Amino acid sequence: MKEQVTVPGIRARKRSRGAEPIVMITAYDAPFARVVDQADVDIILVGDSLAEVVLGWEDTLHVGIADLAYHVGAVARSRPQALLVGDMPWLTYHLEASDTVRNAAILVQAGAHAVKLEGGRRRVPAVRAITDAEIPVMGHLGLTPQSVHAMGGYKVQGREAIAAGELRQDAEALAAAGCFAIVLEGVPDALAERITAEVDIPTIGIGAGPGCDGQVIVLHDLLGLAGTKVPKFVRRYAELGSAATEAVRDWACDVREGRYPSEAESYRASAELREALGLSS
Ligand code: KIV
Repeated sequence: MKEQVTVPGIRARKRSRGAEPIVMITAYDAPFARVVDQADVDIILVGDSLAEVVLGWEDTLHVGIADLAYHVGAVARSRPQALLVGDMPWLTYHLEASDTVRNAAILVQAGAHAVKLEGGRRRVPAVRAITDAEIPVMGHLGLTPQSVHAMGGYKVQGREAIAAGELRQDAEALAAAGCFAIVLEGVPDALAERITAEVDIPTIGIGAGPGCDGQVIVLHDLLGLAGTKVPKFVRRYAELGSAATEAVRDWACDVREGRYPSEAESYRASAELREALGLSS
């Protein structure tokens, strides 16, 4: 049986030191957590992408700490061997340090082993406060979806030299503040590669090219459950959405045409009961 994945184990996984790439994927409930854990992923992220792929919102700004805790709990109860990371929603780590720590603790008490938050140097006090409370923190830089309005849309970040320099400084600051890994989302491949070489904690890319220490993807994108409009870095490995629609359509057709349920799918009444109900046996 696979061993429990731990924060120190992930922290040590630099490809430059010969480690295998880290595999991280989202899940939001127990059945899919079992699916991805049985596929031997290293990290399950209960992402705030929950808002979009499960709860039907247009962006990630509509979920709070209670929503995330509810879904972290569902994933944790499947007892994954993978490391379980809970995403901190927007405005749960931007105000007072005490609120930040309390919110991170809510996710840990729901079953997370670590939390993730978005942003660079401005988030250093939050990272320090949470790690001081013995809760491991994963950073997240580049196209950070909680900043959708500040960025003016979902745009690749760090395309210009100055912006790329800012992101390199952000990554160094997060590593120095105590993050055990950093997600790099929506940045040019060469920049991700440079940051990966510069920081001594693993980088996990999404739309950041092949040069990171690992890759992360939103499960529903990979399985074809998230509609047709997906970012260019998404590779679909299944079309479960259309397969599920087909299955439900077949069942509906069987119901309408009297083929479901069959006798074998029914609880047969005893001869006595049929007689008492006035039915021929
Ligand atoms: O919320 C999420 O799913 C994420 C990943 C895309 C990294 O933050």
